[in-house]
Amino acid sequence: MKTNVNQTIPLSFTTSEFFQNPYPFYDKLRSIHPIYWGNLLKYPGWYVTGYKEAIMILKDTRFKNRIPLPQTSKKYEQLKNIQNDMMLFKNQPDHKRLRFLVSNVFTPRMVERLRPYIQETVNDLLQQVQSKKSMDVISDFAFPLASLIIAKILGVPGEERQQFREWTVSLIQTIDFTRSRKALDNGNAITVTLRDYFKQLVEKRKQCPEEDLISLLIKEEQQGDRLTDEELLATCILLVIAGHETTVNLISNSIFTLLKHPHQMMELKENPSLIENAVEEFLRYESPTQMTARVASEDIEIDQTTIKKGDQVYILLGAANRDPNQFACAHLLDITRNPNPHLAFGYGTHFCLGAPLARLEAQIAIQTFLQQIDNPQPASFDLPWRKLMGFRTLNELSITFD
Ligand code: HEM
Repeated sequence: MKTNVNQTIPLSFTTSEFFQNPYPFYDKLRSIHPIYWGNLLKYPGWYVTGYKEAIMILKDTRFKNRIPLPQTSKKYEQLKNIQNDMMLFKNQPDHKRLRFLVSNVFTPRMVERLRPYIQETVNDLLQQVQSKKSMDVISDFAFPLASLIIAKILGVPGEERQQFREWTVSLIQTIDFTRSRKALDNGNAITVTLRDYFKQLVEKRKQCPEEDLISLLIKEEQQGDRLTDEELLATCILLVIAGHETTVNLISNSIFTLLKHPHQMMELKENPSLIENAVEEFLRYESPTQMTARVASEDIEIDQTTIKKGDQVYILLGAANRDPNQFACAHLLDITRNPNPHLAFGYGTHFCLGAPLARLEAQIAIQTFLQQIDNPQPASFDLPWRKLMGFRTLNELSITFD
């Protein structure tokens, strides 16, 4: 039985008010029911805004992952085929196998070895804007940083990184639920281009291995098992899609949040050892990934709510991270908050594989920004957020500084 079907709420997911500030809407949904049945998207489903309920669902493998495109889609067949080979959209036992093979080489130790390169790249990017006394934090800093780092990890040669950077701009829309036909057309075309690009790169690395992730993945063999060529290509593209713009958003959302909280910005500047704590709070406060989705593979009872087989479940991570039953003063930014068990990287078997990389990049980027950019001021405190439901993304973040 659906426990709360007939409740109506005045706000909808698609108003600009929602995109500017989704949190009152999340609170309203949660106050009606932390697992709310609604028709708010193209597909009706359960909207999960409660922290405890989000965890129950994310750790229950009876809730399955699926690609957001309809399986019948002919138009986006290539995109669909690539997504079908990504671990993000796989279920057990296929997910476990893929994740095991990839996580054996994409390890926290491998990420830690990138620290000097990340620091050098951050320094270079900030150096380039120093004399201008103005910058767009996204296009001048966060975006090229995330792009250069993921390109370096995968082994994209230096001279091809600019092209690579251009391809990555619109990929996130291919996995957002608000994606328009135009965005899908564009994302589809770029994904196909990226696939061809990686195919050539994989061939080169098969002939001539280097120290990059692609070469390591080609070599990786566990108990007689290895990635197929298609899985390898899908993994490269997944790392770009899942890891690129989310990291851009983490860095830019964090800097925007600090600009709006000057006292905490000062505190962080004066006490750099707070950086790890602060990044966890930025992840909670403006979660780059706001939503993920599952589908129930059988009738499942969660906290007296029966979710029927085939029902869609939308887990609003950004809402769970502001649940007052879990976080004291949930709408307040507190860079000293500890413990901070946010769900910004998900939970359970699909917990973000790139979390160590995202954390390291953000810590270095934000700390160095505070050290090198004096008295940053945003062009406006009322910036338009992109109309994506699954992601919290600014279009631009122009600032001036001394
Ligand atoms: C701030 C940055 C990031 C955020 C907020 C983020 C968020 C997430 C979330 C919420 C999930 C789980 C999705 C689900 O359960 O449906 C996820 C999965 C994943 N993320 Fe991230 N991510 C970030 C950065 C990265 C980076 C840098 C990479 C790699 C370069 C990456 C690679 C992945 C992969 C491969 C998965 C799928 C894991 C699996 O299915 O087992 N992410 N991420």
